[in-house]
Amino acid sequence: MKKTVVITGAAKGIGFETARQLHEKGFDVVLTARDAAKGHAAAQQIGCRFVQLDVTDTQSITAATEILRHKVKQVDVLINNAAVLHRRDTLEQADYTLIEHTLMSNVAGPFMLVQALLPLMKNGSRIINISSGGGQLSTPAGGWSPVYCISKTAINGLTHQLATLLEPRDISVVAMDPGWVQTDMGGTSAPRTVQQGADTAVWLAADAPAELTDVFVRDRKVVEW
Ligand SMILES: NC(=O)c1ccc[n+]([C@@H]2O[C@H](COP(=O)([O-])OP(=O)(O)OC[C@H]3O[C@@H](n4cnc5c(N)ncnc54)[C@H](OP(=O)(O)O)[C@@H]3O)[C@@H](O)[C@H]2O)c1
Repeated sequence: MKKTVVITGAAKGIGFETARQLHEKGFDVVLTARDAAKGHAAAQQIGCRFVQLDVTDTQSITAATEILRHKVKQVDVLINNAAVLHRRDTLEQADYTLIEHTLMSNVAGPFMLVQALLPLMKNGSRIINISSGGGQLSTPAGGWSPVYCISKTAINGLTHQLATLLEPRDISVVAMDPGWVQTDMGGTSAPRTVQQGADTAVWLAADAPAELTDVFVRDRKVVEW
C-alpha cells in the first residue's frame, strides 16, 4: 500500500520539491498550502492531492484534518515545512506582531497540526520538522534574523519533546536542516539548489532507518542540536 505524506507550505520552494520527489517515489502525496489557488496549481503540476491548510489558523487545521480523515486512511509521514522569515526580523525592528507571527507560523502551527493529525498516525509513522542551522545551540549564533532563529531552536525543542512523548506509540520525530537553499526565503545567492535542499527530507520520509528519532539531521547525517 502506498504511504501517505502530508507536507505543509508546499506550493513552492523546498516543500514543493519534496512533494514532487516523493510523488515520483510512489508516495500518496497530500500537498497543502494556505493559498488555495497556488496550492491547486502546484498539486496539478505534480499530479497529487491538494488540501488547503494555513498552519496559523485553528479552523483551517480542523477543516484540513476532517478532509484528510475522509480522503486518506492514515498519515504515514507529516512534514512540517511551512515557515516564515520576515525582512524586518532584526534586534532593532522586530515588533510584537512580527514575533507573534513568526512563532505562530514556525512553532505553534506545527505543534497544533501534530495534535490534530495524531489520531490519523499509526505505529511506525514519522514526523519531520524542517528546522534550520540558524536554530542550532551547539554552534555560535549567526547574528541574523533572531526571531526566526529562535523559532528554529524552538522547533528543535518541539522535536525533542514529541520524540519522547510519542515513543510509546512508535512514532519517530526528527528535525532537519536543509542547508542554505535557493528559494524565495533563501534568496538567489544560496549555494544549494532546491533539489539539494529537499534531499534530506525525501530520504527521511522514504529511506532512513525507522529507528531514527529524537535527532537533528543535515545531509542525511545526525548532527549536534
Ligand atoms: N531556503 C533556505 O535557505 C532554508 C534554510 C534553512 C531552513 N529552511 C526552512 O525550509 C522550509 C522551507 O523553506 P523555503 O526555503 O522553501 O521557503 P519558501 O520558498 O519561502 O516557502 C515557505 C512556504 O511556507 C508557506 N507558509 C508560510 N506560512 C504558512 C502558513 N501559515 N500556513 C501554510 N503555509 C505557510 C509559504 O506559503 P506562501 O506561498 O503562501 O507564502 C511557502 O509555500 C522552512 O521551514 C524554512 O525555514 C530554509
